Amino acid sequence: MPMASTNLRLGIPSKGRLAEATTSLLVDAGLKFRRSDRALFARVRDMPVDVTFLRADDIPVLCAEGAIDLGITGSDLLEESGVDLTARMPLGLGGCRLAFCVAQDSQLQGPGDLQGARIATSFPHVTGQYLARHGVTCRIVELSGSVEVMIALGVADAIVDIVETGSTLVANKLRILDEIGHYETVLVQSPTTADADLCARIVRRLEGVVIARSYCLLEYNIPEARLASAEKLTPGFESPTVSRLEEAGWFSVRAMVRRSDVIDTMEQLEDLGATAILETEISNCRL
Ligand code: PRP
Repeated sequence: MPMASTNLRLGIPSKGRLAEATTSLLVDAGLKFRRSDRALFARVRDMPVDVTFLRADDIPVLCAEGAIDLGITGSDLLEESGVDLTARMPLGLGGCRLAFCVAQDSQLQGPGDLQGARIATSFPHVTGQYLARHGVTCRIVELSGSVEVMIALGVADAIVDIVETGSTLVANKLRILDEIGHYETVLVQSPTTADADLCARIVRRLEGVVIARSYCLLEYNIPEARLASAEKLTPGFESPTVSRLEEAGWFSVRAMVRRSDVIDTMEQLEDLGATAILETEISNCRL
């Protein structure tokens, strides 16, 4: 059985917000596996790696204890766990906020109004730290799920929960009172792993996909007189590739551009006199 094997153990969320995105990231990075039914383990094809399906909130402590070599979890859950483990790398997934939320018609306006309030949350540790920073004392009602209905049920005056798109808040007639922080999905590594080299290889594979997903490749033609200005707009990851075109006085430029900036950059290049501006997806890279 995989538990007895010497394979590297990679813990990933078995269900919930992070599960699907994590699996597709691993597959894109060449760590292919198939989970049969509700199995707790899956062997990665062509690599000495066993994937273990776990609760996302158990992954930080299991990694800190050395039960798994690598883990994928939320940085919110890592912080909540309080374990002495730092994220090895962000994975560009699952961006969310942890926020104090109250009923839309609540009189509460800010953290100072929370004195004596009942707060329902699955993040008692992070919530307690926030309240201490604001010098406010509350009663924390610790729950493991469905926190968003607790105000309607009369259990709490406010909740602390994950907000991603905000649709859960709207559906439950809640609004944000204050944000505690921004979080995302991260890779964690056990300080006691026996195979740091294989961990590093997996990190490199994941980096290739994470960077590729956040950039695209932009190619365009530009007259020589505008080349320097165009290069300032598209400095690339390290530097743009510039080649001379057959037509005198024209250059072709190729550069990686942040996906979030690409439309603006295309417009600015067009204004500058660039032609044949092409955006191409990058599916993987090594930089
Ligand atoms: C979280 C959170 C909210 C929801 C917010 O639940 O508890 O219910 O996501 O997302 P939204 O702002 O996009 O509506 P999650 O899916 O992590 O599962 P959970 O209920 O097990 O916490």
